[in-house]
Amino acid sequence: MSTGLLHLHSFLPYIILTLLLLVVILCIKTISSGKLSAFHFKIARIAMILAHIQLLVGFMVLFMGDAAKSAFSQGMGEIMKNAELRNTFIEHPMMMLIGIALITIGFSRAKRAETDKAKNKNLLIFFGLGLVVILSKIPFEQWLNS
Ligand code: HEM
Ligand code: HEM
Repeated sequence: MSTGLLHLHSFLPYIILTLLLLVVILCIKTISSGKLSAFHFKIARIAMILAHIQLLVGFMVLFMGDAAKSAFSQGMGEIMKNAELRNTFIEHPMMMLIGIALITIGFSRAKRAETDKAKNKNLLIFFGLGLVVILSKIPFEQWLNS
C-alpha cells in the first residue's frame, strides 16, 4: 500500500507539471486575444483536481509511508537537524501545500471573475506562482533517480 502510494505520488507530477505549464502558456497567449477558451479553463480545472489528489496522496505518504515512519521514529529534533530529512518531510510538504493553495485560490477566483480578462489574469498569476513554488521544492534528484 505504502509503495503503491509513493508510485502514484511520483507519477502524478509528470501530468500535473505538464498541465500547469500548459495553463501558463495558454494564459500568455490569451493576453493578446483576450478570449479565454473552454479548453483552457478545462485544463486549469483538471490541473487543480490532480493537484488536490496529489495533496491527499502526499499526506498519506507522509503519515503512512515507510521512510516517513522511520524518520519520525527518530523524533522531531533529529529530523530538524538533518537537512535531507527536513527537506523531504517538512519543507517539501509545506511548500507543496502553499503551491496547491495558490492554484486553488487562482481557480476559485477565475471561476468567480466576470470577464475573460480577469479570469485569465487570476489563472496566470496564481497558477504561475504555484508552479514556481512547486518547482522550488520538488526533490528532483530523488525523483528522477527512483
Ligand atoms: C504538487 C504537489 C507535489 C508534488 C509535485 C510532489 C512531488 C514529489 C516527488 C517527485 C517526490 C519524490 C518521489 C520519489 O522518490 O520518487 C515526493 C516525495 C514526497 N512527498 Fe511530495 N509532492 C507534492 C505534494 C506533497 C504534499 C502536499 C505532501 C505532504 C503533505 C508530500 C509529501 C511527500 C513526502 C513525505 C515525500 C517522501 C516520500 C518518501 O520518500 O517516502 N508531497 N513528492
Ligand atoms: C486534501 C484535502 C483537500 C482539500 C483541502 C481540498 C480543498 C478544496 C477547495 C478549497 C476547493 C474549492 C475551490 C473552488 O473554489 O473552486 C476544492 C475544489 C475541488 N476539489 Fe478539492 N480538496 C482536497 C482534496 C481533493 C481530492 C482528493 C479531490 C479529488 C478526488 C478533490 C477534488 C476537487 C474538485 C473536483 C473540486 C471542484 C473543482 C471545480 O470547481 O470544478 N479535492 N477543493
